[in-house]
Amino acid sequence: MSNRRTFAIISHPDAGKTTLTEKLLLQGGAIHLAGEVKARGQARRARSDWMKIEQQRGISVTSSVMTFEKDGITFNLLDTPGHEDFSEDTYRTLTAVDSAIMVIDAAKGIEPQTRKLFEVCRMRSVPIITFVNKVDREGRSVFETLDEVADALALDVVPMSWPIGMGGVFQGVLDFATDTISRPEGDSREFLGTRTPAEGIPDDIAEEIELARGGYPDFDLEAYRHGDLTPVYFGSALKNFGVTELIDAIAKYAPPPRPQPSEQGTILPEAKEVTGFVFKVQANMDPQHRDRIAFMRLVSGTFKRGMKLTPSALGKPVAIHSPILFFAQDREIADTAEPGDIIGIPNHGTLRVGDTLSETNKVRFTGLPNFAPEILRRVVLKDPTKTKQLRKALDDLSEEGVIQVFYPELGGQWIVGVVGQLQLDVLISRLEAEYKVEAMLEAAPFDTARWLKGSDAALKGFADFNVANLAKDRDGDPVFLARSAWDVSYQQEKNPDLVFSATKER
Ligand code: G4P
Repeated sequence: MSNRRTFAIISHPDAGKTTLTEKLLLQGGAIHLAGEVKARGQARRARSDWMKIEQQRGISVTSSVMTFEKDGITFNLLDTPGHEDFSEDTYRTLTAVDSAIMVIDAAKGIEPQTRKLFEVCRMRSVPIITFVNKVDREGRSVFETLDEVADALALDVVPMSWPIGMGGVFQGVLDFATDTISRPEGDSREFLGTRTPAEGIPDDIAEEIELARGGYPDFDLEAYRHGDLTPVYFGSALKNFGVTELIDAIAKYAPPPRPQPSEQGTILPEAKEVTGFVFKVQANMDPQHRDRIAFMRLVSGTFKRGMKLTPSALGKPVAIHSPILFFAQDREIADTAEPGDIIGIPNHGTLRVGDTLSETNKVRFTGLPNFAPEILRRVVLKDPTKTKQLRKALDDLSEEGVIQVFYPELGGQWIVGVVGQLQLDVLISRLEAEYKVEAMLEAAPFDTARWLKGSDAALKGFADFNVANLAKDRDGDPVFLARSAWDVSYQQEKNPDLVFSATKER
């Protein structure tokens, strides 16, 4: 069986994703000093020799894929950009993983961004391990947190450990599998690695634990892998509690590389042909360089440097001479990659999000969706004679996955849609640098968009009343531009023959 575990961390800003990432990498020996993932300022990256490549290319690749090894398992941790970097890439990354860790703050519970990312995981049945972080601080009651996860996400929950008090009375974490306690030690109150027998638990907490052990079902691997159940670990990334248990859980329970759906049927990781799909393209922000790195998730076969693969959109084979293979320790440029691994492919715009790469050019992976934008803006040209260039640029950039574009049925002002503010900044600077188009963005009277599906008659009936809210996307598919989420549900109710879809398969 494959020893690869390809996963992402989903969380709301501040829940502790960076701290946890750093601790996971430390355990795998991928970085040697705490504090290096979270560099100050804009650069948040693990120390690595990729820096050289990054400096040459002006593209930050390090933080996109972090690989580490432990006990014979190779972990590929894909970054899901958050904060101001939140973008469609954040969602798309979840299409390239086999499982996810959901980090929640013990005091805050499920927050909006966690929920959004969870929905994407659910859509793709990505199994989730929950990590309740910051138990060294005051938090909600453990039962309350477990109930919230179960109710909010409609998942069965199985506590795998239990905090012995929180905040001022925090005395460690009891691991149910081994019946041992990791306790805070020394002045820093960190866990230093010695587990002790489960003794001396205060009565009230012992009672809770007994209730929990009787009241929750046993962990069920199948239900977890189907995305119906989440095992819940309690810990503190900052103080090292629960981190080892979490890595062990990924190694033991998280699924190895999964088969991927394609137009030609399911492609198994064991298949001999090398196949993969591009889930993200990162462009150089420096207008002097048109370099891009396409991130491909390898689905099947053993990739070797120099191998020829055919990108589906290009139709002819290209030799992949200088792929970036992400590895822990010193093997920075390895020669092979296995299913589940991510390969960075430098290119000049030939590779697009959603492309399939394969040896025979006979496979087309499906299921890499566009996600309904959460920010819509009108594009206004400073020089109105540049309409043609603008149209070309918007088509290109939407094809590349930077933005989505909508052409309203009425009026000449085009609308762009994104899920994160950063995408808008990238749009404006690339319009100027690459297309010599100066544009501004104005508020649009719409809040979100839904792809419409239905019979021609149903679509026409809808258009008769709502033409001011209709647009076409880049492919000419009909889109409903909505003023609010309420507007969407209202129209949905009024038009039961139409499907209002928040995603669209590319
Ligand atoms: P994020 O990537 O999810 O946004 O979160 P990040 O790891 O940056 O953590 C956010 C804040 O929470 C940081 O504090 C971090 O030190 C703290 N934190 C993370 N895990 C734990 C934990 O287990 N216990 C406690 N008590 N705190 C935790 P900060 O003050 O915002 O940043 P810094 O100045 O300390 O770096």
